[in-house]
Amino acid sequence: MITLAFESSCDDTSLAIIENGQVKLQKTASQNDVHEAFGGVVPELAARAHTKNILPLYLSLLEETNLTLKDINLIVATYSPGLVGSLLVGLEFAKSLAIINNIPFKKVHHIAGHLHAAHLTQNIEYPFLGIAVSGGHTNIFIVKNIDDYELVGYSLDDAAGEAFDKVAKMCSLGYPGGPIIDKIAQKWTGSLINFPKPMQNSKDFNFSFSGLKTAVSLYIKNNPEYDVNQLACSFQETVVDLLLHKIKKAAIHYGLKNIVLSGGVAANSALRRKVTEMFDKEKVYFPQLKYCMDNAAMIGYVGEKLFLKYGADNPYETNPIPTKILKNI
Ligand code: KG4
Ligand code: ZN
Repeated sequence: MITLAFESSCDDTSLAIIENGQVKLQKTASQNDVHEAFGGVVPELAARAHTKNILPLYLSLLEETNLTLKDINLIVATYSPGLVGSLLVGLEFAKSLAIINNIPFKKVHHIAGHLHAAHLTQNIEYPFLGIAVSGGHTNIFIVKNIDDYELVGYSLDDAAGEAFDKVAKMCSLGYPGGPIIDKIAQKWTGSLINFPKPMQNSKDFNFSFSGLKTAVSLYIKNNPEYDVNQLACSFQETVVDLLLHKIKKAAIHYGLKNIVLSGGVAANSALRRKVTEMFDKEKVYFPQLKYCMDNAAMIGYVGEKLFLKYGADNPYETNPIPTKILKNI
């Protein structure tokens, strides 16, 4: 079975060809240069950039895989959650191709994709504790199957990746902030700034990152001569500690041994190292770096599985939904 997958929920235009759960080719156009000057994603510009990128990506994907639409058995696209203008571009492109060429269509929830990104290259048994940490989400799920998800923890305000991006902006480090902070944090081995850890002692599995962001901003104001490597390292350690604390608590509470991290922040080197140290390393799974960020391969993987289980969706009745909590499908 050959699947053509589309992901355009935020600022990456990504297309992939998946064959029976395996990636044949993925092509992604990043928009970092478009949004860098603003220190975050500008929705209107993101939608325009998707419109510019999607057709060349589609044509080169088919050309490089030597495929035509006659070879494609299924078309899948992200429909929720995301920026509505961004979602619209990928979804309408995918739906149009499916309708005109009479190819079955399947819609996929973006977070279901992230939670299964590690499955593209590894065998992971259900149930598992799935942690999706990105620029838009900080969620802890119990993942019981490809179609069965229970949200048990989430951020009450900013997502972890958003906090990385905002702190990087305060320090004029560039965008996206996560990879830059990750890199410069590694240069610091001295003492750390003691930033607050909001909600670390709350009884639930939720997070809050906006107070931490404010604390960093105050520190910069009060210490104009601050060392950027020390600040980056201290901020990153605080975020990683907050994440680790609740991941551990949830894993114990729900008795789950398999731990699967995903989303852009799952690329963070300190988080990867510390999660692996905390749990049985045979049971901790991360996607390959190229499948941590937003990507179409993870969407294709979930779309294929859902199609085999439930059949196609009606493209005429599928519309973008900016916010939708992932539950049972
Ligand atoms: O999953 P993703 O590509 O898009 C969303 O769905 O948001 O994640 C992007 C986010 C950005 O906030 C970026 O700063 C963060 O992931 N990120 C990182 C790292 N690489 C990307 N955060 C911390 N450390 C990294 N190495
Ligand atoms: Zn994402």
